[in-house]
Amino acid sequence: MNAINSVMQELRVFQPSAETVARATISGMAAYEALCKEAETDYAGYWARLAREHVSWKTPFTQSLDESEAPFYHWFADGTLNVSYNCLDRNLENGNADKVAIIFEADDGKATKVTYRELHTLVCKFANGLKARGIKKGDRVIIYMPMSVEGVAAMQACARIGAIHSVVFGGFSAKSVHERIIDAGAIAVITADEQCRSGKNLGLKSVIDEALSMGGCEHVHSQIVYRRTGAAIPMQEGRDIYLHDLIANQPATCEPEWVGAEHPLFLLYTSGSTGKPKGVQHSTGGYLLHAILTMKWTFDIKPEDTFWCTADIGWVTGHTYIAYGPLACGATQIVFEGVPTYPDAGRFWQTIEKHSVSVFYTAPTAIRALIKASDVDPKVAPKNYKLDSLRLLGSVGEPINPEAWMWYYEQIGGTRCPIVDTFWQTETGGHMITPLPGVTPLVPGSCTLPFPGIAAAIVDETGNDVEWGKGGFLVVKKPWPSMIRNIYGDPDRFRKSYYPEDLGGRLYLAGDGAMRDATTGNFTIMGRIDDVLNVSGHRMGTMEIESALVANPLVAEAAVVGRPDDLTGEAICAFVVLKQTRPTGDAAKAMTKQLQDWVAKEIGPIAKPKDIRFGDNLPKTRSGKIMRRLLRSLAKGEEITQDVSTLENPGILEQLRHSA
Ligand code: PRX
Repeated sequence: MNAINSVMQELRVFQPSAETVARATISGMAAYEALCKEAETDYAGYWARLAREHVSWKTPFTQSLDESEAPFYHWFADGTLNVSYNCLDRNLENGNADKVAIIFEADDGKATKVTYRELHTLVCKFANGLKARGIKKGDRVIIYMPMSVEGVAAMQACARIGAIHSVVFGGFSAKSVHERIIDAGAIAVITADEQCRSGKNLGLKSVIDEALSMGGCEHVHSQIVYRRTGAAIPMQEGRDIYLHDLIANQPATCEPEWVGAEHPLFLLYTSGSTGKPKGVQHSTGGYLLHAILTMKWTFDIKPEDTFWCTADIGWVTGHTYIAYGPLACGATQIVFEGVPTYPDAGRFWQTIEKHSVSVFYTAPTAIRALIKASDVDPKVAPKNYKLDSLRLLGSVGEPINPEAWMWYYEQIGGTRCPIVDTFWQTETGGHMITPLPGVTPLVPGSCTLPFPGIAAAIVDETGNDVEWGKGGFLVVKKPWPSMIRNIYGDPDRFRKSYYPEDLGGRLYLAGDGAMRDATTGNFTIMGRIDDVLNVSGHRMGTMEIESALVANPLVAEAAVVGRPDDLTGEAICAFVVLKQTRPTGDAAKAMTKQLQDWVAKEIGPIAKPKDIRFGDNLPKTRSGKIMRRLLRSLAKGEEITQDVSTLENPGILEQLRHSA
């Protein structure tokens, strides 16, 4: 807990401007406090009111929160609705039919616009096509797609027919996809021939073909392939079909499947503290409500806005703030295929200028990389671009360091745009702790205050509140509508991971350390308290990487820890004992490369250790327990000041001090 206590105090405060307060949906601190008070007085009633006002129901619900099976909570359970109806049809009925829903900005800079009417037609045909393949309500469908209109349409089409999608990020390996296909029991995969990144074409269907050949996937009867690049790819007769063929003769309308509010909308796999990723299961009604509310309150979205969330649809941010939230609010949004540094590191700023983006949502890693790039090459510095269309900036995925915050605020936002530093997780469905632009005084590096109705708190090891100014475990004291419903197929793991008995079994444990400012009560997130790393805003379990390493026939033992990294937040550092003699010099360098490539193949390039150290053994206590504290110090390059008297083999530390 010491590390959590040692946060430096940030003294700069930025008050919302009068103009921002005036235009904001939640305008002024009194309005925020009134919502918090309403939630406190009648919690279930508060959320029920919002669910009635913001979501379109086929049949209205009569119950709000049902705690009878806690901690498996149910919300609005007897109401029925359809998410795709809320995102598409509702816009056709509201006069938004000819409004641009998506501006697709391709890797090569070509932009294509799709209206709500066109998107509706595509999704309906897609949904009819899925039905024609025998895919129906409750079936699981893996989506392994590039950033594209078709990727969003695939998710919407599943939602339209009540099929449960599980999007797998296009950077994951065949083995990772295979694991998810099996765990989800998927019967279909939607993919593309290739994806375009930085001017290069990378195979996607080939990865799925490899995954499907690994065994145990006989239940996958359909693979639908979006033709992105037109590469020549093998198609398996009967199983594989191109998207354009699937939808060619389908009707342009499709009656939505009306599902109960608790019907699972999607599974999304994320890392936990064991080797196996967790299939986070989300609901339909509660999830949609929070996606809408946070779009309206955190991003203060208005009809004239152009919204751009730079996340990939393979992560939760791309679910809530690309595939669902913006569409459910009738917004115009950018869907970006490329990367921030291609053709150069001015791409984000150039794209904001090109499409007059007004709300921009990205990750601290990207900001830090672009700061560095503009220091190196002044041509790509933001001052060369016209960024005055921006009015609001957002940050997500990891703590934003105050220096990066200030640069974002000054160089991108021109000191005019509030920054919403949104803390949330795959499991929470949407923002949990975040400034609201017309309400909250901003403090660089702090995600400030809970979203109205979210009972965020900080407790000690036994679940008791800690006072402001002291660090502890971040928890949520009450269930909320968009929360995780289960870990797919593993309710025990759900309970143990999120509602541990140590804390009394009724507090949602986020897995992060945090503290509240002693005077303002602002929250600052101090990073994970479990064996989960945050690398470039992506969650990686140390055990997952260790399992991948020891699966290599050359490796006897491996331990993985994180160390701070200026660019990626945390970097992966692996300590490895080989079955053969410990390599040194060039042999160690070659072995490092070999093992990095191995992990990329086992999990995906995002899991590659940046640093690998070889030893004859790992530092262990006499009872054989690996002393990870020491490994963390070694990874950081710190002097070992800890007590090493319980160490069986202190001599090993010297070997592990340096990478190859
Ligand atoms: O450690 C927190 C960090 O990211 C974790 C959640 O990761 P994931 O489920 O992949 O979702 C990321 C996108 C919502 C959290 O447990 N995190 C996320 N947002 C912030 C953050 N840490 C600090 N500040 C944030 N704004």
